[in-house]
Amino acid sequence: MTTAPTTTAPRARRRALALGAGVVAVGVLAAPLAASAHGGSPWGHHAAPGAVSHGHRPPAHPGTTADTLRSLAAPSGLRIGAAINTDKLGTDATYTELAATQFSTVSPENVMKWDAIEPTQGTYDFAPADKLVDFAQKHGQLVRGHTLVWHNQLPSWLTAEADSLSADELRAILKKHIQTEVSHFKGQIWQWDVVNEAFNDDGTLRDDIWLQKLGEGYIADAFRWAHQADPKAKLFYNDYNIEYTGAKSEAVYAMVKKLQAQGVPIDGVGFQDHLDTQYGTPNLQETMQKFADLGLDTAVTEADVRTTLPVTTVEQTAQNSMWSQSLSACLLVKRCISFTIWGIDDGSSWVPGTFPGEGAALLWDDAYQPKAQFGVLQQTLELAAGAPRRTR
Ligand code: XIL
Repeated sequence: MTTAPTTTAPRARRRALALGAGVVAVGVLAAPLAASAHGGSPWGHHAAPGAVSHGHRPPAHPGTTADTLRSLAAPSGLRIGAAINTDKLGTDATYTELAATQFSTVSPENVMKWDAIEPTQGTYDFAPADKLVDFAQKHGQLVRGHTLVWHNQLPSWLTAEADSLSADELRAILKKHIQTEVSHFKGQIWQWDVVNEAFNDDGTLRDDIWLQKLGEGYIADAFRWAHQADPKAKLFYNDYNIEYTGAKSEAVYAMVKKLQAQGVPIDGVGFQDHLDTQYGTPNLQETMQKFADLGLDTAVTEADVRTTLPVTTVEQTAQNSMWSQSLSACLLVKRCISFTIWGIDDGSSWVPGTFPGEGAALLWDDAYQPKAQFGVLQQTLELAAGAPRRTR
């Protein structure tokens, strides 16, 4: 699936390198580390012979030791995920091993999007997504379904005819799409991103075909239809730049409250968390907690931290700090139930193709060598031994 999207990632905010604050974040979680340092390893029962247990260095063969992100996160109950390129599953051995061993939840990077699922009207191709669901079940992983209603990666048959459709016709097409897809995966999806990126940065609703033809009620409808098709799946609204306080985050908050007041079945809000060293670190914990206080689950759904290439020492330091702060924010919000990274290795990241001149946004390099930020996340998880345990 290689459809080129319109760029939808975070735009410029403040030009400031995010340095230093990581120390604060680590400080917040330092007490559990001190306790474990004196009381032996809290991870002893996870340790495998030869595992690098407390050096905070990446293991020599990532994915083969007990220091996987997945096992380090297990005591907190937090699920650690990755977006998976299904073309590489089973064809690229290192990629497949990392996908199987490092993560406890997976997201389809592209294969559950509408253009992949229904390339021709009425003809469905579920095979690549089924392959991911099978893989997840085999490896004890949960699946985040991504995504049902979006303005990007729509099938060309739909965009071609959208203008000539009446509101009722378009509504019927959307309902059929949601109910067919959610029913197909019924019982196999933990969280669905039901509606993706419906807001602009200024807090207005995005002027896409859904808003133009159906009005804002399409959002409530989408959640209701998804719930009818799979009442047990957790239904999420997902967006970028809502990690920061501001107009967009406030608008999403207001919408979610309104949906709840109307009895619309919404269970959670996903924070994409596509970060860039030049725009500074968001106040993710504060923003997430606000949504959690509405009685919602939250999740980091598409984390990456890009920077200009080649990476300087200063940028690397900023990346480490931003990764640590993102994960710490999620750990410190009890209702943050999963932390998903948007890809595994820099060689298959969406960043270079979308943000020219930028990259190095993931935890492994393009030769699958673990980077410093992998060690940073291991360390952050180890420090979080005392974080509140997720029960959901
Ligand atoms: C991206 C994929 O990573 C690319 O492979 C694809 O070409 C375009 O979409 N926000 C989202 C994701 O919700 O679905 C996007 O994924 C990245 C931005």
